[in-house]
Amino acid sequence: MSVYQATTSAPVNIACIKYWGKRDTKLILPTNSSLSVTLDQDHLRSTTTSRADPSFDKDRLWLNGIEEEIKDGGRLATCIKEMKKLRREVEDKNSNEPTLSTFAVHICSRNNFPTAAGLASSASGFAALVSSLAALYALPASPSQLSLIARQGSGSACRSLFGGFVAWEQGSLPDGSDSLAIEVAPQSHWPDIHALICVVSDDKKGTSSTSGMQRTVETSPLLQHRIKNVVPVRMEAIKKAILARDFDSFARITMQDSNQFHAVALDTDPPIFYMNDVSRAIIALVTEYNRVSVENGGTLKAAYTYDAGPNAVIYTPKENIKDIVSIIVKYFPQAEAFKDPFGLFGAQGVGEG
Ligand code: ADP
Ligand code: DP6
Ligand code: CO
Repeated sequence: MSVYQATTSAPVNIACIKYWGKRDTKLILPTNSSLSVTLDQDHLRSTTTSRADPSFDKDRLWLNGIEEEIKDGGRLATCIKEMKKLRREVEDKNSNEPTLSTFAVHICSRNNFPTAAGLASSASGFAALVSSLAALYALPASPSQLSLIARQGSGSACRSLFGGFVAWEQGSLPDGSDSLAIEVAPQSHWPDIHALICVVSDDKKGTSSTSGMQRTVETSPLLQHRIKNVVPVRMEAIKKAILARDFDSFARITMQDSNQFHAVALDTDPPIFYMNDVSRAIIALVTEYNRVSVENGGTLKAAYTYDAGPNAVIYTPKENIKDIVSIIVKYFPQAEAFKDPFGLFGAQGVGEG
């Protein structure tokens, strides 16, 4: 008897230009384009196994060992349905081969890092889900095509189908067929950039990204300014900085955009606070580190960015990692756990070693 099963994994991505706001909540179409870096090491990944079998009576999914309900019309159901649709397109109606697209699937996924804590588990999670089904169904789909489906699971997931520097172009078509991820540059274009992950808290966040951004769309006047006047300019500028390997500009734009994202969260009614005192202290340390460099005639050396949670991600050229780690450990002695990548502070390279 044949076994139809595939396992794949996908990494998280951390945005430099943040996605925050939907113009269509069902199709997950954003109010602005965004750009991220996909982390390439093993510490922050979702690994997903999908299995199709004629004896299964319904689609089921387990996340970290606990069964999640697949609600009709919900995000999981939509992704599975869209993947089965792609499979049907490649099935030969006249062959005697089993029609995999008609079998129910059982999906088992694990995150090797905290889920729903502002470390982009929805991004790696839905990217891994879509890529494991693509492998199970032996689909010839390109990463951009798969990104259209992952997007309907979680917006940020569309960017995890690519490595390196990735843009999610917001698109303008009402059916969402042009709202997809594209590669801006592969990781090999700028392997010197590393990401340092500072796990300030692994608690589940109080306000999910989905509900938080919806409240921002409904109540924040600052968001309207951001999507019209700020993001389009920053998207162009940061792409240019990446292509030119201009870390100073890359860092400036990344920090400005993280700050504006947290400003629109604060401008939401009622306000949303994702950063805490430790997050703000890390901002102060990075700011001081950069100030000293610039005062001595150098460039910015590090860029902080925070998603919907208190955990810091610091982008920096490899040569500065040691410095930054020692500064953080000096001010946060409990960060001794740094040596353990799963401890309080972990280093995550996006480049070699
Ligand atoms: P995060 O900051 O971790 O992305 P979100 O609030 O955006 O937090 O999303 C968390 C949700 O994403 C989880 O509650 C779960 O529904 C979904 N999710 C996380 N990991 C996976 C996974 N591996 N497979 C499927 N869904 C996942
Ligand atoms: C702050 O992709 O998690 O991380 O589309 O509702 O699932 P849904 O939201 P999600 O939002 C991510 C928000 C962010 C910024 C970003 O990743 O661009
Ligand atoms: Co998320």
